[in-house]
Amino acid sequence: MTKSYITTPIYYVNAAPHLGHAHTTVMCDIMTRNRKANGVDTRLSTGCDEHGQKNQESAEKLGMDVMEYLDLRSSEFKKAFDLLDVDYDYFVRTTRPFHKEQVAAMEQKFMDAGLIIEKQYTGIYCKGCEQFKTESDLNDEGRCVDHPNMDVEEIDEKNYFFPLEPFRQRLLDHIEANPDFVQPPKFLSELKNMLAEPLEDLCISRPKSRVSLGVTLPFDEDFVTYVWFDALINYLTNLGWPGNDYQDYWSEVEHVIGKDILKTHGVYWPIILMGMGETLPKRISVHGHWLGSGGVKMSKSLGNVVDPLEIVEKFGADALRYYLARHMRAENDSQISVELIQGAYNGELGNKVGNLLSRAAKFSVDRFDGKIPTKGTLTAEDEAARAIALKAAQGFAEVFALTDIPARTEALVQAADELNNYFTAQAPWKLIKDPETADRAQTVLYVTLDSLRVLLEAFRQIIPTSADKALAILAAPVEEGVWSPELDRLEEGGTFGEVVALFPRVT
Ligand code: MSP
Repeated sequence: MTKSYITTPIYYVNAAPHLGHAHTTVMCDIMTRNRKANGVDTRLSTGCDEHGQKNQESAEKLGMDVMEYLDLRSSEFKKAFDLLDVDYDYFVRTTRPFHKEQVAAMEQKFMDAGLIIEKQYTGIYCKGCEQFKTESDLNDEGRCVDHPNMDVEEIDEKNYFFPLEPFRQRLLDHIEANPDFVQPPKFLSELKNMLAEPLEDLCISRPKSRVSLGVTLPFDEDFVTYVWFDALINYLTNLGWPGNDYQDYWSEVEHVIGKDILKTHGVYWPIILMGMGETLPKRISVHGHWLGSGGVKMSKSLGNVVDPLEIVEKFGADALRYYLARHMRAENDSQISVELIQGAYNGELGNKVGNLLSRAAKFSVDRFDGKIPTKGTLTAEDEAARAIALKAAQGFAEVFALTDIPARTEALVQAADELNNYFTAQAPWKLIKDPETADRAQTVLYVTLDSLRVLLEAFRQIIPTSADKALAILAAPVEEGVWSPELDRLEEGGTFGEVVALFPRVT
């Protein structure tokens, strides 16, 4: 892999950014940093899905002009991702003219190729999903399983449709030939199940009488495009498609999504791409959902909603980035709460990483005139401690998958914990008291700080701001670009930066 293009879903702007949005976006940022550190020329896109009925109704509810509302909300998303240290290359807004023009042109091509039909349709519509639903998508009360608190509507109207069934076998063949198409395997099986039965025609329009916020169909001005037939195309229009050498990155695209939108990305999107004659995505990486305390969906009425911006304000962006990276389970849903984040911040980042740095750095500053100690002959214990740090950091010196993130992050913290044990067992504060062993104290300090430096360099992919702050204390800044972990890079006799608390305890 020499190039890579990572995409987050583009988020509805009917409400403020929530934890789920933060999660996918931060995971994509971590994957991007990891690829860049491994020499892969990577681009990251994120942004907002600004069309559709629920965005329109949110503006109406506030009595705001729709465009003003969209400007305001999308700037909130941008600000949230900036606060979370997300280093994106593209921030999409589907209302931008270039995107709308390309969507309309694509639709005209579909029409001309006979891929679109017109028919009267009666169906159950869920605004939450912006989709027509089948009986199996509804719960016992006849509500959408993903939006049980919202009313569904029975709708009878003329619309335009893209028949998917003619492409189903081709998609199944593609999946068979590319078993990595969807990761992890649990979601590949779910996708195969979705493709086991004939597919219904995809409704690609909405009458303007119901929804006006969208791209007008080029062949019928009384209709706008159905939200998904427009939103998915952002992944291409970002790259300047159909021009601008978009294939360079498109051929390496990886979509990262939550499990709720597997059908749209795993079924609709590849088939739309087949209709366009485009290459299918290289990979769709799927994660489970965060649940609030009690192991249930977060909701205001249960009082278990975790607001990402409140967390950033209280603990800093890296506390949230760390929790999301370390504590999401690969294929399942995981729990989150302010208490759990606080516990991980104080107990894992603070006690295991931050404290070790301040203990070893402060001790060295006090005893060696602010200078980094000098290393002497290494013992087996020193070598073992160094090897542990190097091994954990190596996990970041190769391109990893979305599902690898929790275990690799955990390995860094575990290695820091082992360094703590090494430091405590070697007890440099005792060694320094005896002139016979005083040099040995310096070696222990050097090994501790240098091994920690290696871990912090890897940590830059997860918690970039804190890692850089820590590396500044060690006077060992890292330049952006290709990276690999190496021991003995800490400069003996170098001057420490100011020793500040990395993860001040929050109670
Ligand atoms: N606009 C569509 C996506 C169009 S992509 C071409 C959409 N938007 S959304 O605002 O509803 O965001 C959905 C995404 O948010 C999920 O796929 C997932 O990435 C993230 N999450 C939403 N809730 C989540 C959790 N509780 N936990 C983790 N992530 C979840 O769907």
